Amino acid sequence: MKEFISEQSHGKEIVDVVFEAAQGAVAAIKKHGEENVVNGAFGTYFKEDKAFLTFDSVYRVFDKVPDFQKAKYASSIAGPPEYQLAVKHWLFDSVGLEIDADVIATPGGTGALSSTTKNALAPGETVIHPDIGWGPYKTIAKENNTPVEYYKLFEGDHFNLESFKETCTNVMKAQGKVLAFINDPCQNPTGYTMSEAEWDDVLEFINKLSEQGPFILLHDVAYIDFNLKGDEYKKLFKKFTAMNENVLTVIAFSVSKTLTAYGMRVGAQVLISNNEKGRKKFKHACGNTARGVWSTVNNGGMVAFSDIALNPENKQAYLNEKDEYVALLAKRAKIMIKEAEEVGLPLYPFHEGFFLTIRIDDHVVKNELHLKLKEHNIFFVNVYGGLRVAICSIPITKIKGLAKRVKEVLDTIVETENETITDKSAESSNENDNANA
Ligand SMILES: Cc1ncc(COP(=O)(O)O)c(C=O)c1O
Repeated sequence: MKEFISEQSHGKEIVDVVFEAAQGAVAAIKKHGEENVVNGAFGTYFKEDKAFLTFDSVYRVFDKVPDFQKAKYASSIAGPPEYQLAVKHWLFDSVGLEIDADVIATPGGTGALSSTTKNALAPGETVIHPDIGWGPYKTIAKENNTPVEYYKLFEGDHFNLESFKETCTNVMKAQGKVLAFINDPCQNPTGYTMSEAEWDDVLEFINKLSEQGPFILLHDVAYIDFNLKGDEYKKLFKKFTAMNENVLTVIAFSVSKTLTAYGMRVGAQVLISNNEKGRKKFKHACGNTARGVWSTVNNGGMVAFSDIALNPENKQAYLNEKDEYVALLAKRAKIMIKEAEEVGLPLYPFHEGFFLTIRIDDHVVKNELHLKLKEHNIFFVNVYGGLRVAICSIPITKIKGLAKRVKEVLDTIVETENETITDKSAESSNENDNANA
């Protein structure tokens, strides 16, 4: 019998692990008091005084945006011309790059990821994601009916180039084109940033593979403005201009993260390709998606971003303010990493950014630890291969001693596990004894 929902919309009951963990933390704070809860679930930035981080350099500019600009539709589906210019200025001009790119405004980075998936792949075609990645990648794939193949993000403490190559090669063989996601710098959830040499290897491989079919590289730069090198990182984009004609790079830019203005819902797709015809076609398709899915993006937000990006004084004020919080993240991370090392709590390789991740390969132990930590009022997000610790939302006073607390809980779980295994092996040896009798 037919149902209200279509065949395609089955299996969409949304369990968003981030929102779920965040709600748990909020409930615990209400019950036990803020001072007794470690909320490492929120992916938004909280200051040392526990207040939500809002930049004065952003909101005083936003205050000056005239009411009519906040009220009106954007002048273009792809975003007002000044916004398109501002995005290019932010990503390219600030490091002296002149790149011929198309910009399409999207509601946050999420809009860019989703529209790219939708317009690069037909339903049923496979998208490639990292095995350890931002949870909603899966939701986006489900929404677009694109199955997912995963490459292993790490080999030891490095980007797993071989796994990336193998996964892309197999998918190219199977469907004649590839859409692959790379989230860099400050990867969510690990805080890993690829080296320039790793990028060179990846791009060399993509160029080669694109001889067999179109390769769309989705470069998710959500946390780009929170990397320690600052704008220097953006020099990398030059490399995308030297790719074969069969390669399209889509940079997914998130104003949510850059300005810590998550609810403003502003972002962009930035298209770079030496195949101008193909790039324009892609741009038009994304414009249609915009019109047909969300219409235009928040105009007041786009105007405010443009006023910051294109006015050197405003931009400098933002950079001064933001740099302080990039440094604070590094300080929080340093404490956690040092203490984790001291107590033997394994972490994935971390360089910078909002998150780091405790490495737990055993699925059962990981789930158990996630649950047990909640009983201790410690809230992290359960991700593939570990538990994500949002250092962006934990003040230093609560980071101190956290690794030890987690390790103690982990040890009790591992001990119980070992006992169960010993019991089980005793049972099974009894079984064997019986069998022998
Ligand atoms: C890795 C990553 N990509 C993209 C996004 C998109 O964020 P937004 O849609 O708010 O710009 C996020 C947000 O948390 C993220 O963590």
